[in-house]
Amino acid sequence: MKWVYIEDLKQYIGQEVELRGWVWNKRSSGKIHFLQFRDGTGFIQVVVEQSSVDPQTFEISDRIKMESSVIVRGVVREDSRSPYGVEVHAKEIIPVQIPTEPYPISKKDHGIDFLMEHRHLWLRSRRQFHILRVRDAVLTAIRNFYKERKFVQIDTPIFTGSIGETAGNLFEVDYFDYGKVYLSQTGQLYLEAACLAFGKVYNLGPTFRAEKSKTRRHLIEFWMHEAEVAYYEHEDNLRLQEELVSYIVKYVLENASEHLIAIGRDISKLEKVTVPFERITYDEAIKILQKHGSNIQWGDDFGGDEETIIASQFEKPVFVTHYPRKCKAFYMQPDPSRPEVVLCGDLLAPEGYGEIIGGSQRIHDYDLLVERLKEFNLPVEKYQWYLDLRKWGSVPHSGFGLGVERTVAWICGLEHIREAIPFARTLYRVYP
Ligand code: 4AD
Ligand code: MG
Repeated sequence: MKWVYIEDLKQYIGQEVELRGWVWNKRSSGKIHFLQFRDGTGFIQVVVEQSSVDPQTFEISDRIKMESSVIVRGVVREDSRSPYGVEVHAKEIIPVQIPTEPYPISKKDHGIDFLMEHRHLWLRSRRQFHILRVRDAVLTAIRNFYKERKFVQIDTPIFTGSIGETAGNLFEVDYFDYGKVYLSQTGQLYLEAACLAFGKVYNLGPTFRAEKSKTRRHLIEFWMHEAEVAYYEHEDNLRLQEELVSYIVKYVLENASEHLIAIGRDISKLEKVTVPFERITYDEAIKILQKHGSNIQWGDDFGGDEETIIASQFEKPVFVTHYPRKCKAFYMQPDPSRPEVVLCGDLLAPEGYGEIIGGSQRIHDYDLLVERLKEFNLPVEKYQWYLDLRKWGSVPHSGFGLGVERTVAWICGLEHIREAIPFARTLYRVYP
């Protein structure tokens, strides 16, 4: 008999197939059991009627508890009530493992700590299934976008001796005789080297920040996608970002909208995410904030609350550009007409999701970069390789980093970023 997955079942209407999966719930009424069945690709109902199965199969269905693993053989029937359009009428059920203990995650409302403590099991729940399928679509969209544009994927290292972003939130690791190195906060510096070798490059991987902030937007370990392009200046950089983000949203709408619908996301909000995105300067953002009663002053950095106020003025993601140089990292190119601000852009997502991208044009002048490293108290000797890039064939270049979980949280409309990654690392949790 043919083993098929639920996602393909519609092609087998009227035929007998084999499904391999798990029973996540059961409803019974004497001579009939309705098994809520999942196989990792979807969810359907399996009907077990006493009159159409052998006694052994009916007895097994009697014993089946939540999260029993079973093999089901039966006939696929059209069913308009099912989101997959079908249900299966069992002929035979072969148990693989029937749990002896009750499944810890029941239908009652569990607190978030309990669910996070059982994340290894919580992953099987419907909502988590749909969210992580959206994440998968976001990651595929990123890769497809760059493949279409002929970028080269460059995998940047996790261990690094050069602080990539700020000295404040580093994880230190002992590295043999070398001494202390850090877990990467960003792969940017290495992508800068690679863009001078390959022109257009990108990466996609985990990054680490020892941030003591316990907010719904911060993870300790999160996935970042970064791009870097030689000869790109500030405006080219923003254009690439808005094209990427609108591409991701469109891809998810076209390929994973059933998952968004299943978790109750208002899709009409996402349909508005088309190019171009609005650009406002930091100065304009300050005015918006002050108009909304904030006592923020020019030179202050924005936190989550400020980002939410600014973004709520717009229906689509919005770029905030030209931040004061002292708010931002050492490598950002000053605006030639106004050196106290830098050629950077943060992309703020709508609906209170905050900054999903940070990017900038990079300093390409050797002396200016040395000056900035000193100004930021960074050890110049650890950056000799990075300075070399400004010695041989230096060109203007720009890039950015997109937070994968923040993007998923926004697209799914999640309350908290912890559900946007399979196993979240937060301030107080590394289990499971
Ligand atoms: O703005 P950030 O710090 O920028 C960089 O690291 C640059 N070096 C990127 C580059 O230009 N190549 O981080 C980029 C993005 C943020 O916009 C945010 O979406 C996400 O990474 N991010 C986090 N996501 C989850 N938890 C955290 N603690 C995050 N910190 C940053
Ligand atoms: Mg940032």
